[in-house]
Amino acid sequence: MCGIVGYIGNRKVYPLLIKGLKRLEYRGYDSAGVAILNGGLEVFKKQGKVSELEDFVAAAKPHGTVGIGHTRWATHGEPNDANAHPHQSSNGDLAIIHNGIIENYSALKQDLLNKGHVFQSETDSEVLIHFIEEIQKMHDCDLEEAVRLALTKVVGAYAIIVISKQDPHQLIAARKGSPLVIGIGKDKNEFFIASDATPIIEYTNEVVYLNDNEIALLTQNELKIKSIEDVPTTPYIQILDMELQSIEKGGYDYFMLKEIFEQPNSIRDAMRGRLLARKNHVQLGGIHKYLQNLIDAPRIIIIGCGTSWHAGLVAEYIIEDVARIPVEVEYASEFRYRNPVINKGDAVIAISQSGETADTLAALELAKSHGATIYGVCNVVGSSIARASHEGAYIHAGPEIGVASTKAFTAQVVVLSLMGLMLAKHRKTISEHQLSEILLELERIPEKVEKALKSNAQIEYIADIFKDARNFLYLGRGYNFPVALEGALKLKEISYIHAEGYPAAEMKHGPIALIDEEMPVVVIATRDSSYDKIVSNIQEVKARKGKVIAIVSEGDTLIPTMVDHVIEVPMTHEMLMPLLSVIPLQLLSYHIALMRGCNVDQPRNLAKSVTVE
Ligand code: G6P
Repeated sequence: MCGIVGYIGNRKVYPLLIKGLKRLEYRGYDSAGVAILNGGLEVFKKQGKVSELEDFVAAAKPHGTVGIGHTRWATHGEPNDANAHPHQSSNGDLAIIHNGIIENYSALKQDLLNKGHVFQSETDSEVLIHFIEEIQKMHDCDLEEAVRLALTKVVGAYAIIVISKQDPHQLIAARKGSPLVIGIGKDKNEFFIASDATPIIEYTNEVVYLNDNEIALLTQNELKIKSIEDVPTTPYIQILDMELQSIEKGGYDYFMLKEIFEQPNSIRDAMRGRLLARKNHVQLGGIHKYLQNLIDAPRIIIIGCGTSWHAGLVAEYIIEDVARIPVEVEYASEFRYRNPVINKGDAVIAISQSGETADTLAALELAKSHGATIYGVCNVVGSSIARASHEGAYIHAGPEIGVASTKAFTAQVVVLSLMGLMLAKHRKTISEHQLSEILLELERIPEKVEKALKSNAQIEYIADIFKDARNFLYLGRGYNFPVALEGALKLKEISYIHAEGYPAAEMKHGPIALIDEEMPVVVIATRDSSYDKIVSNIQEVKARKGKVIAIVSEGDTLIPTMVDHVIEVPMTHEMLMPLLSVIPLQLLSYHIALMRGCNVDQPRNLAKSVTVE
């Protein structure tokens, strides 16, 4: 939700900011802007993508070695040039970029209007920079102190960077609820700062993650951090473990396609060192101190949003099936506002690719305050949810840049399966034989995913037939029900076709009324315990002339005689089938979206990291 980047040092800042913004564009792409200190303060901003900002700035060729940049996902005020960041103070001396929401902005704005401030935009962010300006005037203090004092009065979430024409050799950054990473240049004479490490990684791997309620003062040779209460803290330097190639497209047209095809490897990475099939054992290194709490938990609550919530549903089926612990899966946004019953001793699994989703973070904090133990399942190392959890397991999928989540889903399911199996073993709810069967099968999943990916050309052919459909229905039962939801979500996210996922048996309670010869129905009908039932559901669709695309197990001879199109996936254990059956659905949505001329990596209105409620 908005990407921010800043730099101070000796390099030409404009191209560096543009490159950084392109890396952060997955966080929002409604508008983009930069502010550069170069004797004066030059601000350029434009509605649209970063490339549109580049075209707009082309002739100006801004110079300077200190600057900030922003790519926006609109919250307050529509996406237009005026609402684009950076925003400036009344006198034009200060500029700010902001990710987050200032909740009390309208009261602050009213006060500032009374004092004669004139606003150029409808944003909450512009109010903050005017407020800082006002405080600096009132207290006659330096900029850092003005920022600090202003933030003590602000309610809401923010990651900000502020620069000033009057102090051209410094950047001031602060965070609460929205992430900020500071990169320390190799020769210690430059600093990078960004919403995540992707704009930084090609310059340095030494980083400091700013904590909530901290303010950083960056000059060319020095980084000083203090709390918002004015107490200095020592920066904790960490070494980033990320390869530049992992954030580039590597020959693929889109990140989404690259990430779909990376799954054999990302799944291997998710289980590396954890799945010890020969020893019939699972170990999750990140869960040890609180392992017993999880084993003894009377109940597990899983929270997440979007695709992570779907992975949570798969986990519910697995954990209840093998470990026999009652599980509830909650939309984080609903959970946090509905006065849920949370008992001491409950275990909460918070699933989040980005580790920054505001609703998931808030739900986690709520559960924590009621005495629950929190286990984070995140992709981004050092992210807010990972840090706020008691313990957890990273999914190690590598950076996921396509806005529609693909490889994070399968890596989440792998880690959650391992968690379920680990619990089952400790609780003795699974026999050694069953455990060994599933672990050996899990080990074979990456090669089976490779095989499933071989249907790509066939799926492209099917996509061409259905690309103009206005609605899609996705049906699945048991472990494949969450996959039906995920398939429908993928399609609507990137192709803007209305799609619904349903448990196949529920179809007769409503969606069946929608079925006619125009309606494509994707049925996930792999060989499992509900195979015969789903065959009946297919017949119900066909009797109403629906067009059926069936995802079947390799070698199925029955379903191909009944349906319009079949896509095969290899056989596996029922519990692990989501890892295979989701692959053709990811590819189907990718090809349909591409054929409809949609921007697959940056679908309209969406953002990868949703740091607002
Ligand atoms: C956004 C993304 C989805 C993602 C969801 C949850 O809506 O577009 O792809 O599934 O947020 O994100 P998280 O980072 O918490 O998994």
